[in-house]
Amino acid sequence: MACRSPVSLVAVTSDDLREVDTVFDDLTAYSMRIDGVPRREDAASAFVTALPPGCEPRNRHAFLAKCEAASIGLLHLIDGYPTAGTAFIGLLAIRQSAQGAGLGRALCQTTERFARKNLHVHTLRLAVVATNPVQGFWTRMGFDPTGETKPFQGKRVTSQAILMEKQL
Ligand SMILES: CC(C)(COP(=O)(O)OP(=O)(O)OC[C@H]1O[C@@H](n2cnc3c(N)ncnc32)[C@H](O)[C@@H]1OP(=O)(O)O)[C@@H](O)C(=O)NCCC(=O)NCCS
Repeated sequence: MACRSPVSLVAVTSDDLREVDTVFDDLTAYSMRIDGVPRREDAASAFVTALPPGCEPRNRHAFLAKCEAASIGLLHLIDGYPTAGTAFIGLLAIRQSAQGAGLGRALCQTTERFARKNLHVHTLRLAVVATNPVQGFWTRMGFDPTGETKPFQGKRVTSQAILMEKQL
């Protein structure tokens, strides 16, 4: 599926949990890689409530990514984490059935635009779980490894998270 207009972001509220669920239902390969289960039961509620220690709920931005009316993915951003001027991408995902058609790149571009114009940050940061082979995607999007790794514990997966950043 290609998208003729730019991918748009719609802020998720508790009314949208079912819609978020339908996207997680279509992210089973990703879930297997980072959690070892096809679907976390609490995936949608965790998506709207996740917050690193020390961060305020107002710093959390959880979105459905839309191509016209269709929900094609998810974006979770934390403003000012770990430091002011940086936004942390907790999740950027395109539903499995829509991957490989340029939507990941389009969502990344929309994310950068939002981070620059609305959050006024100069850096995007994220962590790639070593069992999820997407580092090449982020390299193509202009991200570089920072050299940091952190232990990662998924539901049934123990691994390392590789930190990457992009200057905007
Ligand atoms: C990673 C993800 C967002 C990519 O989305 P996508 O729509 O399939 O990517 P696109 O079709 O826009 O690809 C853009 C470019 O990245 C490349 N690419 C995509 N996935 C890649 C991968 N896993 N490894 C290396 N390159 C990849 C494409 O070949 C394309 O290259 P190009 O420069 O030649 O055009 C998608 O696979 C996804 O949502 N995965 C599950 C969730 C996830 O892992 N998110 C990242 C968490 S850190």
